[in-house]
Amino acid sequence: MASHFLSSQFFLLLTIILHCTTTTVAQSLAPAPGPPGPTNITKILEKAGQFTTLLRLFDITKVGDQINTQLNNSKQGMTVFAPTDNAFSSLSAGTLNSLSDQQKDELVQFHVIPTFISMSQFQTVSNPLRTQAGDSAPYKFPLDITTSGNQVNLTTGVVSTTVANAIYTDGSLAVYQVDKVLLPMSLFGPPAPATAPAPESGKDKKEGGDDGGQSPSGSANSSDAVDLRGELHGLMVGVIAFIAVFCL
Ligand SMILES: *[C@@H]1O[C@H](CO)[C@@H](O)[C@H](O)[C@H]1NC(C)=O
Ligand SMILES: *[C@@H]1O[C@H](CO)[C@@H](O)[C@H](O)[C@H]1NC(C)=O
Ligand SMILES: *[C@@H]1O[C@H](CO)[C@@H](O)[C@H](O)[C@H]1NC(C)=O
Ligand SMILES: *[C@@H]1O[C@H](CO)[C@@H](O)[C@H](O)[C@H]1NC(C)=O
Repeated sequence: MASHFLSSQFFLLLTIILHCTTTTVAQSLAPAPGPPGPTNITKILEKAGQFTTLLRLFDITKVGDQINTQLNNSKQGMTVFAPTDNAFSSLSAGTLNSLSDQQKDELVQFHVIPTFISMSQFQTVSNPLRTQAGDSAPYKFPLDITTSGNQVNLTTGVVSTTVANAIYTDGSLAVYQVDKVLLPMSLFGPPAPATAPAPESGKDKKEGGDDGGQSPSGSANSSDAVDLRGELHGLMVGVIAFIAVFCL
């Protein structure tokens, strides 16, 4: 009688596996989704609109190309804080024009982080955040993050702003809109006090947010079996549940 009972479950299992297989085959025959070609920051910002000043800066400093190349060659990913055209136009007149080419480059690099940071990973980054502009010591290019709930604030020591929203994210590149230009201390802050030499920036420890891998949830509590039949039943239910979760 046990065997009759089990065979009905075995049939159900077979049915599910068969369904699963056909689904998988159908899926693998479908054209793979996703953008064709490598990620292109220029394209992303053009599509988003309202970033013409940043695009111009990316172009003249070649930072746009650099981001695309770096994205293609590194596994760390990248994060870009993208100030809107409004952000640039609310700077005091002549701010950009007063900068040398080198300083423009530093300003733009200050908006680029050489790691991918998801919205939730902002909660665990360690300050100061290291940007592509380099030295994050005080009076150089420090960028600090504070969070409160879902709100993410950025502080440079000269300006503070809030991450407005994610324009783009794909697990490798994240682009966040900011409504202020991030002005670094080095270019826009007070000069470092001459008497107190800035301490060597000791800690460069990066905390990658430890990327909590998704643990497969739903470990079935196989029912407390009292006899062989009960155990087999529990096992079978577990296997069916497992396959069902993964296939359906
Ligand atoms: C990126 O996109 C821009 C504008 O769409 C295009 O001009 C440029 O050639 C693209 N770059 C690459 C490397 O495909
Ligand atoms: C991307 O990387 C691959 C392999 O490293 C390389 O062959 C290719 O030329 C790169 N493409 C671009 C656009 O940099
Ligand atoms: C973020 O900035 C806003 C506006 O400046 C401020 O009201 C808020 O308290 C800040 N939150 C955090 C966590 O720093
Ligand atoms: C699994 O079942 C046993 C026995 O019924 C029970 O004591 C235990 O709390 C259950 N564990 C979970 C994680 O549900």
